[in-house]
Amino acid sequence: MADFSYPTGVAKKLPLTLLVFFSALLYNQIQPPPPKVPGSPGGPPVTANRTKLRDGRHLAYLESGVPKEQAKYKIIFVHGFFCCRYDVLNVSQGLLQELGIYLLSFDRPGYCESDAHPARTEESIAVDIAELADNLQLGPKFHLMGFSMGGEIMWSCLEHIPHSPLQPGNAFAGVGDDVKVHLWHGVEDLFVPVALSRYISKRLPWVIYHELPTAGHLFPVADGMPDVIVKSLLLGDG
Ligand SMILES: *[C@@H]1O[C@H](CO)[C@@H](O)[C@H](O)[C@H]1NC(C)=O
Ligand SMILES: *[C@@H]1O[C@H](CO)[C@@H](O)[C@H](O)[C@H]1NC(C)=O
Repeated sequence: MADFSYPTGVAKKLPLTLLVFFSALLYNQIQPPPPKVPGSPGGPPVTANRTKLRDGRHLAYLESGVPKEQAKYKIIFVHGFFCCRYDVLNVSQGLLQELGIYLLSFDRPGYCESDAHPARTEESIAVDIAELADNLQLGPKFHLMGFSMGGEIMWSCLEHIPHSPLQPGNAFAGVGDDVKVHLWHGVEDLFVPVALSRYISKRLPWVIYHELPTAGHLFPVADGMPDVIVKSLLLGDG
């Protein structure tokens, strides 16, 4: 019988050459297009109000509720992955007015109309939020809320935004009466296992933990939930 094998040199090199070729092709295909920076030449126009941070980046923000000068409570909301400032917790107008709430949300760095922060760190988002609050003159006291990946950022804020009687870096030793941390989790959450929040609330007894037995990841958009969450945060659970 004849043996039709290729000369071994070519047989080895051809697949390798093809692999390199297709890898190069694939690499080109998956490159993101050049960024279109809002407000820059060729970029989309800026439609939001934006504040300039010390390092020159802009953060886009959206205010709702009562004017901050008249507000009894000020809340900064931090959105999750693949969202923007408009994905703020949908608190009813009735409650905003009744309790006197000023609600501020913003595009996280790199989202929508906020400039990207390629050198961002776990700490830098907390510094950005503190600077946003300063720039908008919210005063020394405000509440923070985060949903989903915005919830992770709450831990960073707790650690890095100074709040009496804690010093930065000490946050997880325990919190004083003037700082309350609420954690909400739906048992049927398919993105973040509820075991995580159970573990955290067990290890950090000062965390006020709310577990929703029949809710999934998106419980904050359920009818009436935004008001329940905000009332619990501002007024306690009664
Ligand atoms: C920007 O802020 C001003 C002053 O608070 C407000 O009147 C205006 O509606 C805001 N613009 C946008 C696009 O949110
Ligand atoms: C926000 O809640 C109001 C009721 O308070 C509802 O009419 C509206 O459709 C909701 N908006 C979104 C985006 O879910």
